[in-house]
Amino acid sequence: MKDFIAGLPKCELHLHIEGTLEPELKFELAQRNGIALPYATVEEMRAAYAFDDLPSFLGVYYEGMRVLRTEPDFYDLAMAYLRKAASQNVRYAEIFFDPQAHTSRGVPFDVVIRGLRRALMDAHAQLGVRAQLIMCFLRDFQAEYAMATLLESLPYKEWIVGVGLDSDEKGNPPAKFAAVYERARQEGYLLTMHCDVDQENSVEHIRQCVEDIQVNRIDHGVNILEDPSLVQQILDKGIGLTCCPISNSYVTDSMKAEGIRKLLDLGVRVTINSDDPAYFPGYVQENLEALELSREELLQVQRNAFEITWLPRHLKDAYLAELETYAKQ
Ligand code: ADE
Ligand code: ZN
Repeated sequence: MKDFIAGLPKCELHLHIEGTLEPELKFELAQRNGIALPYATVEEMRAAYAFDDLPSFLGVYYEGMRVLRTEPDFYDLAMAYLRKAASQNVRYAEIFFDPQAHTSRGVPFDVVIRGLRRALMDAHAQLGVRAQLIMCFLRDFQAEYAMATLLESLPYKEWIVGVGLDSDEKGNPPAKFAAVYERARQEGYLLTMHCDVDQENSVEHIRQCVEDIQVNRIDHGVNILEDPSLVQQILDKGIGLTCCPISNSYVTDSMKAEGIRKLLDLGVRVTINSDDPAYFPGYVQENLEALELSREELLQVQRNAFEITWLPRHLKDAYLAELETYAKQ
């Protein structure tokens, strides 16, 4: 099965680029930028990755990205991920980035996006892996800061396919960002949003996402199982869910494998992704292995993924055809 998964043409739709910062690169960038780290070795650093819920993970995640300062830093970060992705036969990725995690500490927006964009171009030319960027707002900051970030992104609109919402969900419902999302829609951005697993008011947050904000996609979202009418709406609208089993096992009590499989059985467009693989060990290959799905289920997960990508129809069809060729072999 490992080999079957390795050969499968894959798609990754839930991946925070800052969450791919492996300890080795963190040390390299710290040295490059003259930043002191509170660890002497990679092992010490990994040992400090002690988190058991979303807030404790986010503390480590934001602390780690202090080493990212210049355009080449963001280039190297994205290039390292795309090399890894290509080695796992990821054919296409939609990559989140968190501009406010950088602008809030004095790194300009254009430094971040130019570095990432250049890596995406080079990876496509050199590795054959295609990718697009999704700009996430940090939901624990004020909505006004998200709106300012949205306006700052407009000169780079051609480089950003959509917007997302991440960081600490507690007390930060989708409704807080309704005006930001409305403006993003008017600007032509596609819309997704984290509905992290087992949050306070998870079901109400998913309802706001689907009914009020009317997102195109939901990141995580397995708690829809608690409300059959929401499951029905998601089926009717064809909304995809980007699930992340290994990540779930670090910030909740389990991978939520049963729930993910149930949603797949119900015909929901479930996809499997890695979230923050430098912190929740496992890239997309390992996440697909972890669920112990059948061949047919694995193929369905990848069909769902290519189908719900934010690519034009002809590119979706080309990747889906590649997948069907693999299925027949
Ligand atoms: N930022 C990075 N990873 C995240 C996650 N899994 N949930 C919310 N915010 C995040
Ligand atoms: Zn995420």
